Parts: sequence; structure tokens; C-alpha cells
Amino acid sequence: MKGQPNLTMPHAQTPHPFLKRLKNLTQPAHQQLEANLYAQRMVAGTISQADYAAYLQRLWPIHVTVEAEYQRWPDWAAYGFDITSRQRAPLLAQDLAYLAYPLPADSHFPLSPGHDFAEMLAYLYVLEGSTLGGQVLLRKIKPVLGLTPQQGGAYFYSYGPQVGSQWQAVQQFLTDYVTQKPTAETVIINQANQFFEMIDQWLTAKLL
Ligand code: HEM
Repeated sequence: MKGQPNLTMPHAQTPHPFLKRLKNLTQPAHQQLEANLYAQRMVAGTISQADYAAYLQRLWPIHVTVEAEYQRWPDWAAYGFDITSRQRAPLLAQDLAYLAYPLPADSHFPLSPGHDFAEMLAYLYVLEGSTLGGQVLLRKIKPVLGLTPQQGGAYFYSYGPQVGSQWQAVQQFLTDYVTQKPTAETVIINQANQFFEMIDQWLTAKLL
């Protein structure tokens, strides 16, 4: 994909076939993550504040590592995609500070350095997609833990009323990218599956 980027496709009314494929082919991995004990406790509304804080602490190295990896790629700016507005590690820090739990001393997450920008798009897909699940989870745990965006719930609240439009912008970027570079499709799908699995293992490794 050389030369001047030209990502000006009109927004699709029906889901782009790539988005359908990406969703379908990562669905088992997403379901596996939903079956995670932290997730189950949140959905069931039985999560304690300590469990919730531990979950945020476990997410912290994932966001710190991936968001630092994003910064190594000049491609975002070349395509006019504002990646800095997608940084959510600060929201985890904000929630943990409010709840008076420390940030983990070690922010290392075992992510191999990327060799292809398409891998960044897989991470973007997985982490930005989690804002959709975050809305569901916030509704479940809000009454249990008394969270508001300013009181420990900033990470799940994420973009608030803009969650839908922020997600649409990610979907548009993904489809524009694979339209210009069809070989990226397989890379994104495989890397998204791998990333889902890594997150699940990471969360499960230190279950309470
Ligand atoms: C119990 C935990 C979770 C629940 C209940 C949940 C729920 C949901 C829901 C309701 C959607 C929207 C589906 C739709 O509109 O068609 C969604 C989408 C998504 N979630 Fe989750 N989620 C959870 C955890 C996660 C986590 C931890 C991640 C990643 C770190 C994640 C990544 C995604 C992605 C990538 C999508 C977009 C799927 C697509 O439309 O292509 N989810 N989730």
C-alpha cells in the first residue's frame, strides 16, 4: 500500500463482508473471554470491589503495552486516524486511584513486536470492541459497586454516548484498509484471535 493514502469510502449501510467475517471468525474466542471468571462475576452481579480492582489491574499491562506499541507506527497519522484518543490505560489508572488500589508494579504484557501494521488493526479491533462489552458490564456492576464514570467506572464508561460513533469509525477504518490491502484480512483475523486468547490466558493466570 504505497503512495498517498486515500481512505474516503462512503460509510456502508449494511456490515461490510470483512466485518461479518471478522466477527464470525473471532466469535468463539470472544465467547471464551466472556466465560472468564471475572466476566462471569460481573455479568452475574456478584463481583466484589476487590475482584473488580483486580480485573482492572490485570487489564493495565495489556493496555499499556499495546498502546505503547501503537505509537511505534507512523501509519495512523498517514491515514488520518487519531490513535491517541483511543488510549485507555489512563482510565484504568483513574479508576484504580479512585478505588485506592495500586497500579501493578510490572506493566509488562508478553506481546511480540509487530511486523505489519495490520497486526495493530487487530489489537485496535479487540480493544475498541471491548468498549461495547464495557457498556453491558457497567450496567451490571453499577448497582453492585456504586460506580459512576467519575467514581471508579471510567474505563467501562469509556467514550460514553460516543461509544457507537467511535466504534463505527474503527469499523470504517478497518474496511477501508482491507479494501486497499486485501492481504491484510487474514493477518487481522488471525492476530485478533491470537490476541483474544492471550488476554484470556493472561486474565485466567491470576484468578482470585
Ligand atoms: C463479560 C464480558 C463481555 C461481554 C458481556 C461482552 C459483550 C459484548 C457485546 C454485547 C458486544 C456487541 C455485539 C454486537 O453488537 O453485535 C460485544 C462486542 C465485542 N466485544 Fe465483547 N464482551 C465482553 C468482553 C469483551 C472483552 C474482554 C473483549 C476484548 C478485550 C471484547 C471484545 C469485543 C469485540 C472485538 C467486539 C466487537 C464484535 C464485532 O462486532 O465485530 N469483549 N461484546
